[in-house]
Amino acid sequence: MIFVPMWDGSMGCASFLFGDEALGQGMVVDPLENIGADSYILSATELGLEIKAIVETHVHADHHSAARELAEKTGLMVSLSHRAPVAYAFNPLSQDDVLDLGHACATVWETPGHTPDSISLVITDSTRSNEPWFVLSGDSLFVGDVGRPDLVDPTPEMVREAALEQFHSIHEKILTLPDTTELYPAHYGASACGGLFLSPKPVSTIGFERRWNRFAQISDPDQFVDQVLMLLKPPPESAAAIRAANLGVPTLA
Ligand SMILES: [Fe+2]
Repeated sequence: MIFVPMWDGSMGCASFLFGDEALGQGMVVDPLENIGADSYILSATELGLEIKAIVETHVHADHHSAARELAEKTGLMVSLSHRAPVAYAFNPLSQDDVLDLGHACATVWETPGHTPDSISLVITDSTRSNEPWFVLSGDSLFVGDVGRPDLVDPTPEMVREAALEQFHSIHEKILTLPDTTELYPAHYGASACGGLFLSPKPVSTIGFERRWNRFAQISDPDQFVDQVLMLLKPPPESAAAIRAANLGVPTLA
């Protein structure tokens, strides 16, 4: 398997290109406007990969996505959670759907919390093992932190409910992966999507986070929710406008 993280340190955003080099099939996850659709196409071409899928782990509110532009240029549809409220045609994904590139496979896990439509992708390379190699955790489990639950609906009740969903996504899904599974979240560093403990490191392992991530250490759901809400940073001013642009609507209703 070929795996190329494509990071934008200025925003603390991660995107990924990976695929099966033998079959020449690749996938792009969370492409960034700051990097540009053409860069993903060029990188894939240089690696001998034809882009076969474009996946968004959720509708982003902190940066402009390049997913639709990349879809137009490649003739593909963007793949998103079936819960994504976007205003454009997309390929809906549900729990346990498999995106098959040959020996490289991505299994969809619905991991709501940061947003209702948040998904993670569990990646295996069958030339080595059927055991997960890495997880693209979107904005569920971060390195040192978790995705904030307050960017979609700011009412206190909804935020609390979203934080509780985040607890279940992380403790009942992401943290069930083996310790050796590598963790590649959608954000790191100065990203607006995390809290006060978001690490500047873009990569970790499930085992490391199980041991050192303060939110992985909290087994009580109410305590988890209280901690997440207590450690929230101020919401970014541009979140509603960016989310509306990524939804494909001029303004939020
Ligand atoms: Fe996000």
